[in-house]
Amino acid sequence: MGFIVAIDGPAGSGKGTITSKLSKKMNLNNIDTGAMYRCVTLEIIRNNIDLDDLEKVKEILDNINIELIKENGKQIVKLNGEDVSREIRENPVNNLVAKVSAIKEIRTKMVEMQRNMAVSQDIIMEGRDITTVVFPNADLKIYIDADVEERAKRRYLQNKSKNIECTYEEVLEDMKQRDEIDKNREVGALKLANDAIYIDTTNFTEEEVIKKIQKLIKKEKKLKKLEPKIYAERPDNRRKRIVRSIVKGSLKGLYKFFYRVEIIGEENKQKAGENGGYILCPNHINFIDAVAVVLFSKEKVRFIAKHDLGRIGILRWFEHLFDVIPIKRNTQDLEAMKRCLKALKNNEVLAIFPEGTRHGMEKNGKAKNGAAFMAIRTGKPVVPVGISGSFKLFSKVYINYGEPIDMSKYKIKGKEKEYQEQATKEIMDNIVMLTNINK
Ligand code: DC
Repeated sequence: MGFIVAIDGPAGSGKGTITSKLSKKMNLNNIDTGAMYRCVTLEIIRNNIDLDDLEKVKEILDNINIELIKENGKQIVKLNGEDVSREIRENPVNNLVAKVSAIKEIRTKMVEMQRNMAVSQDIIMEGRDITTVVFPNADLKIYIDADVEERAKRRYLQNKSKNIECTYEEVLEDMKQRDEIDKNREVGALKLANDAIYIDTTNFTEEEVIKKIQKLIKKEKKLKKLEPKIYAERPDNRRKRIVRSIVKGSLKGLYKFFYRVEIIGEENKQKAGENGGYILCPNHINFIDAVAVVLFSKEKVRFIAKHDLGRIGILRWFEHLFDVIPIKRNTQDLEAMKRCLKALKNNEVLAIFPEGTRHGMEKNGKAKNGAAFMAIRTGKPVVPVGISGSFKLFSKVYINYGEPIDMSKYKIKGKEKEYQEQATKEIMDNIVMLTNINK
């Protein structure tokens, strides 16, 4: 798979123009998925097909050939060999395309075609379901939005420049209807993916938005290049163990100088470790809480941390030294999951923040099920940890280890997902209790 930038947003948000310009500036192949749905619509109109006649619709899909090509620097859309770039933007297609793109069979075929287009090239793809359905694991996901009146104004001016007959009121009405259909349909609905970057373009110029996205693309490309280094596994040999123990000792000294660390419930960790590895689940206040858990544990603790921390050389060095497991957030990072399960089977100690992010509980974020999933799967206990303190210099920091939680009671065939939720809730309730200590 190449480098993938996925862009979603409602009609008229400017994503088409922005994507097209970015594709030239950043050397990415532009795939306008809206144009693909427009081609299917045109073919349906030309063949006079009733949308309820699924057999006929399927026949069209089996024989359709859509090409998005560049000719003399211009993006050309070809339907069965014929240039239809203009016809697909005219009213007959405009009026029907939202209904056509709501048909499941059509979406399945388009998604398949879109994924195939990305196998061997770096692409930028825009549409309604690109960040959520087509490429949920894209390298960069962006949702471009704008007020509906602003979007209608833009589309109206665009149509006028192309000599397409319409009034502003017609365009606005059409846009509102399309928003309704796009957002509420059963398959491939327009949704904001929880890890997409939201950009409201209402009060920004096109150039400003392009610059902003260009910066994001550059940053992500750099991160992607670093991935082999971030994910590289360094053997835990004697030399590494010596360096780790020196670094750990020195940092612990520094930490003790700046904070008064008090450990409570150390015996709970020993209890959990009687039969091998376990999972520590602390709350997450700031960067240095994870450091405290690692430094003030006699045993080696392997944290799971978001992989983009590794973009900074010195942090990457520390991560390798302490065998941190990098993970891509909000996607299915199977490599990370494999490493965690392997570590637990080897009786190592893992640490995961179930909150997923700093102050996750306060932000009312949903706790992540990863720790519960792994504990249930491997039969290893979870030790909840409450970290509290103001983290002001020279103040007290409490690390309060709770009783190990036996997760085997949640191992119920066929109901794994439901019980993971319950298990996560038990972990979170314990963490909250452990942060409430009488100081
Ligand atoms: O972006 P556009 O206006 O050219 O899109 C045309 C139609 O196709 C619009 O009604 C939404 C639909 N569409 C879709 O359902 N999924 C996509 N990935 C892209 C467009």
